[in-house]
Amino acid sequence: MDTGEILDFLQKPAALLPITQHRDSILYTIETTHVTIIVGETGSGKTTQIPQFLEQAGWCNDGKVIAITQPRRLAATSVAARVASEMRTSLGDRVGYSIRFEDLTSATTRIKFLTDGMLLREALVDPLLSRYSVVMVDEAHERSLSSDVLLGLLKKIKKKRPELRIIISSATLDAHQVAAFFEDEEAPVESKTSKQCQIVKIDGRSYPVDVMYSTKPVEDYVEAAVNTAFDIHTSERGLGDILVFLAGRAEIDSAIQKLSERAATLPPNGLALQPIPLYAGLTTAEQMYAFSPAAERTRKCVIATNIAEASVTVPGIVYVIDCGFVKLRTYSPVTGIDALTVAPVSQASATQRAGRAGRTQPGKCFRLYTRAAYSSLAATTSPEIQRSNLAPLVLQLKALGIDNVARFPFLSPPPAQLMIRAMELLFSLGAVDDYAKLTHPMGTRMAELAVPPMMAKCLLAASDPKHFDCQSELLAIAAMTSIQGDVWFHHEGQKKAMEMSRRKFAAEEGDHLTLLNVYQAFVTKGKKEAQWSRNNHLNHKSMTRAVSIRAQLRRYLERLGLPVDDASTSTSTSRTSGADKTRAILKCLTTGFFSQAARMQPDGTFKTFSGGVTLHAHPTSLMFNRKADYVIFNELLESGDKVFIKNISKIEKSWLLELSGGYYKT
Ligand code: CDP
Ligand code: MG
Repeated sequence: MDTGEILDFLQKPAALLPITQHRDSILYTIETTHVTIIVGETGSGKTTQIPQFLEQAGWCNDGKVIAITQPRRLAATSVAARVASEMRTSLGDRVGYSIRFEDLTSATTRIKFLTDGMLLREALVDPLLSRYSVVMVDEAHERSLSSDVLLGLLKKIKKKRPELRIIISSATLDAHQVAAFFEDEEAPVESKTSKQCQIVKIDGRSYPVDVMYSTKPVEDYVEAAVNTAFDIHTSERGLGDILVFLAGRAEIDSAIQKLSERAATLPPNGLALQPIPLYAGLTTAEQMYAFSPAAERTRKCVIATNIAEASVTVPGIVYVIDCGFVKLRTYSPVTGIDALTVAPVSQASATQRAGRAGRTQPGKCFRLYTRAAYSSLAATTSPEIQRSNLAPLVLQLKALGIDNVARFPFLSPPPAQLMIRAMELLFSLGAVDDYAKLTHPMGTRMAELAVPPMMAKCLLAASDPKHFDCQSELLAIAAMTSIQGDVWFHHEGQKKAMEMSRRKFAAEEGDHLTLLNVYQAFVTKGKKEAQWSRNNHLNHKSMTRAVSIRAQLRRYLERLGLPVDDASTSTSTSRTSGADKTRAILKCLTTGFFSQAARMQPDGTFKTFSGGVTLHAHPTSLMFNRKADYVIFNELLESGDKVFIKNISKIEKSWLLELSGGYYKT
């Protein structure tokens, strides 16, 4: 295929997508069925076309809206942009999206893409999701916590709103399991006009993919990925782009750098190689490089997280390199802590990744693991609900009025042990009482704030003037820890300079107060000028986002009747002059994060109280190589065989007893 042909392909009109032939039958099925399960190859047009079919067929009459949920923020925004452009409307008008802290919809929005978590939040105020005529749960195979809960909720809503249409769509879903889930129990007598559930299969067109395995186990898959990409580029004669799957952004950044160095050694008059990252922390503009065609005489090498596995289609890919790993949220009931862990992919994921190479012509997939390793992989990834901290989920269900959480219809019920841990944590946070009932106002307020329960508790505790009185500061800290993206930023070779900048803002007490210093300096000095951020090695986009998140959290508090007084505390001088204020902030953080506490060991590592797990301060933390005694932390990640903690602050041991709602006993 030459460049011209590839370009033609990329601009292939929607009329040529496999799904278009099924338009009428899909519409008929949806019309006559409560729950339609649609399974079709990634790229066949499910996400972008079905909402348009529905809108044209009148499902948005009377001001009704079509909701399409995605497990990932990046998928929701990029797909919304695509559909808006296909419909020749501007984003936020007839087509919009809503993700946490970012709402681009208006009264005229008829097709709305949102994360599954956002739709759940909407159910808090509109329990029957009455503004929607159709809810499409997309990428259901991902089995994210929120989409699993959504399925249970929709099953309940369906009984009260028989006119609601539910679509479950995915490339690799076990459709029969989902069908059985919706059909079980005393299904109301099948009415003459509508069926309970139907499965629609769309046969996507895909080309054969040659799968190659490593002959021996790979030691460093980032290195191996870079070498393989370079080899493909120099030895494969045809055009066609490369897609590399790595587990996380740090790996991707390092691979990009290594590959750029290799690419610079290519002869200047030959085919160039352009490495492009794709992960959720990038700005929309940065993401667009992955989706647009490469420059002339250039081969793209997109290095992506799991995002490119099924949620979005990167066009033009002929070669796939699969490292065999993925970053997953896991929860240890022993430590009671959520972590991001790099884990082996499932066989289903590996198949899906390989399939990305065969979209436009026969392709090749290079697996950076042996055939034997492949055989030992699990068949599918376990649902998130079976390996997560369930406190946010239980809180949300209770706020939705579902008190008996154990009887909620789960597609895969969570393990009892995780449920018990979640109840214990919620009880200690003061969100539920002795009878496991949501408390008022604490529990209901915690459920309404758009941050996880532990941070929500901090914000609410901070709003109590008699208690901590550090609301303005906690809002900034909550915002700074909610930005998805880095606070710090440096160009190649400027790492030292960045460390110097970071030291300027450093607070002895740890990362939270450092983040507060950064925030306060930014709003007083740097808000208007990107140059100020650059001079201080701060990521201007992230900082601007923190300001917007804080404003939204502030509005949430105001809606809860907790007005925010910023006047007293808006400058850094007023904070540093107040040792009491600092103490109040740290105590306040302890009221939320007591379950994530650790003690420093003589060798500088930390140990949790419960499980005795060894933790290391992350190199980005101020506590890296510093002395402390007791600390709390916000985030935990596993990398290699080490467990790292991030966003760490020093606390006093006595606070843990005083402020943990009985979580720790003497
Ligand atoms: O949801 P599904 O994977 O079935 O497909 P889709 O996301 O609706 O995409 C349908 C087609 O639109 C893809 O094959 C791409 O060629 C194209 N597309 C694109 O070029 N750029 C996007 N941002 C989204 C889709
Ligand atoms: Mg899709």
